[in-house]
Amino acid sequence: MDIVTTSADLAALPRVGTRAVVMTMGALHEGHLALTRRAAELADQVVVTIFVNPLQFNDPADLEKYPRDVERDVALLSDAGVDVLYVPDVEDVYPGGTPIVTVSAGPLGAVFEGEYRPGHFDGVLTVVLKLMNLTGPDVALFGQKDAQQLIAIRTMVRDLNVPVEVLGVPTVRGVDGLALSSRNQHLSEADHVNALALIKALKAADAVATSGADVPATLAAGLEILANAPGVHLDYFAALDPGSAQPVPSDYRGEVVIAVAARVGSTRLIDNVTTRIGV
Ligand code: PAJ
Repeated sequence: MDIVTTSADLAALPRVGTRAVVMTMGALHEGHLALTRRAAELADQVVVTIFVNPLQFNDPADLEKYPRDVERDVALLSDAGVDVLYVPDVEDVYPGGTPIVTVSAGPLGAVFEGEYRPGHFDGVLTVVLKLMNLTGPDVALFGQKDAQQLIAIRTMVRDLNVPVEVLGVPTVRGVDGLALSSRNQHLSEADHVNALALIKALKAADAVATSGADVPATLAAGLEILANAPGVHLDYFAALDPGSAQPVPSDYRGEVVIAVAARVGSTRLIDNVTTRIGV
């Protein structure tokens, strides 16, 4: 694995056949490694990026406490089919400081995660487009764990004619069902147990939806679990249109993303499942 820290060194590396990129903020876990393994199956050359992007953190304290352990990340990536690791510092990605021209997520950036984290998706899309331009991939892989992020990236690629194929990879979970996340490190043992209410609520909603219920009944099934869950402070539990990430109307029929966000202890967690309602 070639490890480069500057865009100049990255550009100088030879291209070998098709190239896939997996973008990350580090503190890697099996969820990230599922992306790199899938990338290695799909492409001849796999590029991973590790960059904690300040532009997507609306809360400076969150940026400050974001877990960082590049040495451990390098060890994990060494046998995960990765050819190139790009770990730039902030100056390499934003040489002129905060960029003047940025990407706007539009209405996608105003709902759900965007409502709780103003500017977050503009920051994500700006860095994703920059990293696509810097790494020159044929295909870029992202996790379904961050469903609204994946929808935003697909929309950007479509609307701005970015010549990259975007692929979603299913969420990797722990044995107890909790979606793997770099932020799980901040959960105490009790928080971890409390956090299981999120997947329990999503599963309950999925079961109700697939039994033929409508949107309000589907959401009620999950909300009931979350309302009674100790230590869980709910931000939202909602049904999203998988194309636009907007809330679906109560008479909606078809594929939906049921998404949840909640604070457990001092940690904010998100998760989702894709299901079908009324069909
Ligand atoms: P990060 O949270 O490090 O996630 C990097 C990639 O791994 C994302 O595509 C995310 O959806 C995926 N991922 C995280 N946990 C996963 C899990 N349990 N199962 C499957 N995939 C998972 O998302 C970001 O970084 C940033 O916003 C980024 C896209 C790198 C832009 O800065």
